[in-house]
Amino acid sequence: MLEDSFGRQFHYLRLSVTEACNFRCQYCLPDGYKGPTSDQFMTLNEIDTLLKAFAKLGTSKVRLTGGEPTLRRDFLDILQLTSNTPGIERVAMTTHGARMEKFAHQWKEAGLHQVNVSIDSLDPRQFAAITGQDKLKAVLRGLDAAIDAGLDVKVNSVLLNDFSDSRLHRFLAWLKDMPVTLRFIELMETGDLNQFFNKQHQSGTPLKSTLLDMGWQPLLRRKDAGPAQEFYHPDYAGKIGLIMPYSKDFCKTCNRLRVSAPGKLHLCLFSENGIDMRHLLATGNVDEVVAFLQDVLGQKHETHYLHEGKTGATKHLAMLGG
Ligand code: GTP
Ligand code: 5AD
Ligand code: SF4
Repeated sequence: MLEDSFGRQFHYLRLSVTEACNFRCQYCLPDGYKGPTSDQFMTLNEIDTLLKAFAKLGTSKVRLTGGEPTLRRDFLDILQLTSNTPGIERVAMTTHGARMEKFAHQWKEAGLHQVNVSIDSLDPRQFAAITGQDKLKAVLRGLDAAIDAGLDVKVNSVLLNDFSDSRLHRFLAWLKDMPVTLRFIELMETGDLNQFFNKQHQSGTPLKSTLLDMGWQPLLRRKDAGPAQEFYHPDYAGKIGLIMPYSKDFCKTCNRLRVSAPGKLHLCLFSENGIDMRHLLATGNVDEVVAFLQDVLGQKHETHYLHEGKTGATKHLAMLGG
């Protein structure tokens, strides 16, 4: 089992499989960004060793993320490998959703349980302006396909000053009949995002008050829950979540570790450079990886220090898949 010096237990691995993405969300990947090329990302064999080591240490949930994970040619193999790893009980992925209409059923068959999709606006023009891709309709058809396939669906929407006005009402009307959990996320400051952050960051606190005034009721938070505080309303098929990393005590319930596509362990989304594991993964020796993980966990800090204006070495979230 993986437990840090603050008593937090880590049963959840967020595994980035690529940094590439064909969307350009304004708050995530800067225009013209060129990251590492695909030959620098972990191979299927290295991922296999990594997963076995984490599973041996009690990891039961893995989220495949990126960049856009489905851009990897061997994505289906990675998915199958993950769901076939003994000990891994829940497999999730975070995707832009543009390929979901075609593949949702196939992913489900390969062992996927849960999918998180970004939709920052239900207005097609706003969606295109934020993401650089005029694909809202395709993503919405993808959500229907995911629900139809029996996947558990969450939708992510980053809170931005520019797009606040009619957005909430449109989302609320949509949620009446949509059985998904819609999470509003406070924009986080990453290294490449300073100016954008200062212009666009919005606290989730006023939105929380609005929701409570409208009769949305907080759901009891499970001990192993993720970062979102969730709310339900008897008149709505969907739920709402708030992810507020700038709120006090956010990191007290941290339950996840991250590995980047080039095989670096990140103890926090905003930790320094990441600790290279590639040489260990290349040997295929699971026990060595286990010993390494147990050893380095002591370096995990208590919090992300974002509230102190520190972003660590994280230039943008596509480096780590959020
Ligand atoms: P589940 O709890 O498994 O549903 O996933 P999630 O909400 O953690 O995953 P998702 O990939 O959808 O991320 C939603 C948002 O939460 C993204 O903006 C992530 O960057 C952010 N997030 C997820 N985990 C953490 C974390 O440990 N710290 C911080 N600061 N943000 C996080
Ligand atoms: N702040 C908050 N959320 C972000 N995401 C990407 N960049 C940021 C940021 N700077 C979100 C995306 C996606 C999730 C994985 O991370 O909207 O849904
Ligand atoms: Fe790509 Fe996700 Fe970043 Fe959007 S948020 S650019 S989909 S990695």
